Amino acid sequence: MTADSTRGSMADDSLIQSARAHIVSAKSITVLTGAGISADSGVPTFRGENGLWRDYRAEDLATPEAFERNPRLVWEWYNWRREILSNKKPNEAHHSLVHLESRLQEFRLITQNVDGLHRLAGSKKMYELHGDIWKVRCTSCQLVAANHDVPLLLPPHCRTCGGLLRPHIVWFGEALDEQILSKSFQAVESCELMMIVGTSGLVYPAAMLMPAAKAKGAFIIEINLDSTPYSPDVDLSLQGRAKEILPLLY
Ligand code: OAD
Repeated sequence: MTADSTRGSMADDSLIQSARAHIVSAKSITVLTGAGISADSGVPTFRGENGLWRDYRAEDLATPEAFERNPRLVWEWYNWRREILSNKKPNEAHHSLVHLESRLQEFRLITQNVDGLHRLAGSKKMYELHGDIWKVRCTSCQLVAANHDVPLLLPPHCRTCGGLLRPHIVWFGEALDEQILSKSFQAVESCELMMIVGTSGLVYPAAMLMPAAKAKGAFIIEINLDSTPYSPDVDLSLQGRAKEILPLLY
């Protein structure tokens, strides 16, 4: 199958109608989301112009080495991100995925986002591949706890053992939770249709989910402002804002 895509500001109506027909008839749908779905809530994406913080790239801060070198600097970045997120709300794209979940027996949402907006919107059948910015984990006793302090007083310490806390997030160079990853692969390998929304497709192993779905014969729809490495291989590529396109699809 070849890619059927528009280049421009908004996917044209015939592509929307075609996507709609596939979605309405699909019995099982798995959705993969990335930072682009939260962009319209005012959350900066990682690789866009607004993704930078004090001239650091995410790749320079979201690593175990960066945390070992300078935990305060890494925590200051997370404090900045928590502050941005603290007054952000889910947008129409998050809400429309909740609606889709309510219509299907077989639905899974896999997100790379750590912002908690899908949960806030009401998504339930969801795997958070990269963790949760609103949780902390002790580097000593490994205890995970919810924490919504904005800002978090630095450096934060574990209430149980006094060890240094870190964000409960998967950093570059770290392994993803095995169970979550294997359930995510099961979800893409067993679905009839997969939607990929607002991700650059550059971060592994998340980037392997689309090829895994395709190898099992799923119909793939991409929704993104831009073209991505996925675009040539998907069945339908809808270019535009997730919050405008998703509500048109079901
Ligand atoms: P990126 O910042 O790499 O990509 C965001 C994508 O969203 C881009 O392809 C944009 O074109 C698209 N986009 C932006 N605004 C959009 C909109 N309104 N509607 C639709 N699409 C839009 O973010 P991710 O692919 O999510 O890891 O990045 C993957 C991982 O890299 C993240 O989970 C994060 C980061 O390091 C961790 O936090 C561990």
